[in-house]
Amino acid sequence: MQIYYQEETRTFYLNTRNTSYVFFVNELGDLEHLYYGKRIPNVDLRYLAYRHGYPFTPYFAETGACCAPDTYFREYPFGGSGDFRICAAELGGKDVCGMISQYVSHCIKKGDARIEGLPCAHGGAESLEVTLSDCEKNIRIVLHYTVYPDCDAITRRAEIINCGRNAVRLIKAASLSLDLSGHDYERVDLAGTYMFERAVVQRNALSYGKIGSFSSKGCTGHHGNPFVALCARGADEENGEVYGFNLVYSGNYENEIEVSAKGNTRIVSGIGGGLDQTLEAGRSFRTPEAVSVFSENGLGGMSRLFHDFIREHIVPRKWAYAHRPVVVNTWETCLFDVSEEKIMGMVRSAKEMGAEILVLDDGWFRPDDKQGLGDWKIDAEKFPSGLKKLSEKLHENGMGFGLWFEPEMVNPNSDLFREHPEYAANNGKGLLSRNQLVLDFSNRTVVDFVFEKMKSVLDGLQIEYLKWDFNRYITEPCGAAGKRGAFLHNYMLGVYSLLDRITRRYPNILIESCAGGGGRFDLGMLCYSPQIWASDNTDPFNRIAIQFGTSLAYPNSVISSHVTHGVVAGFPANLRLRSATSEFGPYGYEFNPDSICIEDRILLKNWKDEVCRREELMLRGDLYRLIAEDKFVAYMLVSKDKTSALFTLIQYYFTAADEVKRVRLRGLNEKAFYRNSSDGKIYSGAVLMNAGLLLDGLVCAGGKAERIEFTQVDCL
Ligand code: GLA
Repeated sequence: MQIYYQEETRTFYLNTRNTSYVFFVNELGDLEHLYYGKRIPNVDLRYLAYRHGYPFTPYFAETGACCAPDTYFREYPFGGSGDFRICAAELGGKDVCGMISQYVSHCIKKGDARIEGLPCAHGGAESLEVTLSDCEKNIRIVLHYTVYPDCDAITRRAEIINCGRNAVRLIKAASLSLDLSGHDYERVDLAGTYMFERAVVQRNALSYGKIGSFSSKGCTGHHGNPFVALCARGADEENGEVYGFNLVYSGNYENEIEVSAKGNTRIVSGIGGGLDQTLEAGRSFRTPEAVSVFSENGLGGMSRLFHDFIREHIVPRKWAYAHRPVVVNTWETCLFDVSEEKIMGMVRSAKEMGAEILVLDDGWFRPDDKQGLGDWKIDAEKFPSGLKKLSEKLHENGMGFGLWFEPEMVNPNSDLFREHPEYAANNGKGLLSRNQLVLDFSNRTVVDFVFEKMKSVLDGLQIEYLKWDFNRYITEPCGAAGKRGAFLHNYMLGVYSLLDRITRRYPNILIESCAGGGGRFDLGMLCYSPQIWASDNTDPFNRIAIQFGTSLAYPNSVISSHVTHGVVAGFPANLRLRSATSEFGPYGYEFNPDSICIEDRILLKNWKDEVCRREELMLRGDLYRLIAEDKFVAYMLVSKDKTSALFTLIQYYFTAADEVKRVRLRGLNEKAFYRNSSDGKIYSGAVLMNAGLLLDGLVCAGGKAERIEFTQVDCL
């Protein structure tokens, strides 16, 4: 039993394999948080409840100054209510009134529950629903918790129900609020920009007051990510306590962290940018799901828990551990200049490199990015036989087919916009970005229209892969569902409903999500698409930083990465380096295979065969980030049973001969023995993890990649 309720003390215990989460119903009827951290027995923890009266902390006459809402730890603090810290939910306009929500009932169920219209995790072990109400019984709040014991993960969300007679305005409804004792934590999150998404891992000590991260772009964005961690000061890659949080959502988010005047920490995470939902009588609002994990094994331990959770419970089951086809994509080599002739011309050499799917990127319906988006009318000059014929021809030649779409957008220069300007957000009045406007996906008619368009292209095609792009931010949040927050959330519901319909109708098409590179890299998109294009920046050195940052919260198997042309720090980059970088996640190519010599194609084919042979490690393995320095990065992928591992070292720059060092391996079995593929010798796990490997001979212009496999052997 993972969830347990102790009637006498009115305490809830949520346990995973290594963690415990405890709260109780206090004397005000409010849910008071007691503990989140390393697993402990289900004992009475109410002695930890904060019961001190301080000047200026308001209290209720019945319970007295000691039980002050501004000081005790709360599960879901509604705005007002004598708690001056950041709140989890708030009513607006004339409905502004503080409230202490009071416990009404609860139920514990096996499994998890789907959230209508929103993506969420699947395969949970047990769920808890606690219902609270305000004293006038006008607003009901249902808090949902699900435990995922093997990944030490707990998901949370809230449902706010208007049980009164009048409509109310909800201006905030977070998914998670958590109070932690003290503020000896450092906040870790991911920053970046277009071409450097999540490449910057920020780490800052908390101090009094409020800090946070957010997106107001209508998507999670290139600049940040909904993931955030709080680590105990001094925690490192492999040691120390770390709490990790993420949201199953792809729109605006906000993570607020406050250190209160009493020195405690509150984190509130959920939809950002002003919610602004009107709840008519009898209607409810459901927040997206938030995920939290806790690890004692540093940031690496936290990452591995998130990786397991995402693979097991977020990515669609069908794809989670399925072979990821090696694609060759036309974008970086052809841009808009694609044609049937060009595509068919690539097949032979693409096959020589081991490609399995040819992806026709942008350009199949337009000459440039100024027109045609939204019409999805194939360019008959470029593709005289049509897409169906092209896909058949490719398959006849032993090559799969993939296609690029950008369903949420329209060019003003398109038949769609000329006929239906009202299908664009704000009727198309507003700013352009990449010559395009955003469609009003808060309008069901628009979503239906796009679904029919996509159907007219996809039905009957022999197609295995779809690239789903999103190439601008939302600047005029206004449409059928209202303005600002109301529009933006309903826009996301429209996107999810289209993804849901497409994935149901075409269950065998693998969707790779993309947003001008990695501008929408989040758990919401991963519920439909098992992999996401991490960035348009494919320079191996930049890309490894992007991938390392992304790996803090997301597993290798979802970080799509291709070998491309391009220049590295002024040197022509070698193919081995590029391939080693791309091997981090689902692998592919993005250059004209005819542009390289046959020897290089053979080199790539051999590499691809190796990538496929080791694919299980990428799909299921535990990631250990060993070195993340200016000059080197090194990491390992270790099989769950610790019998095989891949060590990868990437040297960034031409360096002087000053770098000869040892690196200790991680994740192996200390008692086992392993064959080192580079020297054929056998080493004990204990030696590799304590004495380490010697890295030398690193002087190399243009960078260098080295990979060593370790395979367990029976004995010496
Ligand atoms: C975005 C993507 C690219 C490519 C182009 C096509 O920028 O990130 O990979 O698909 O759109 O327009």
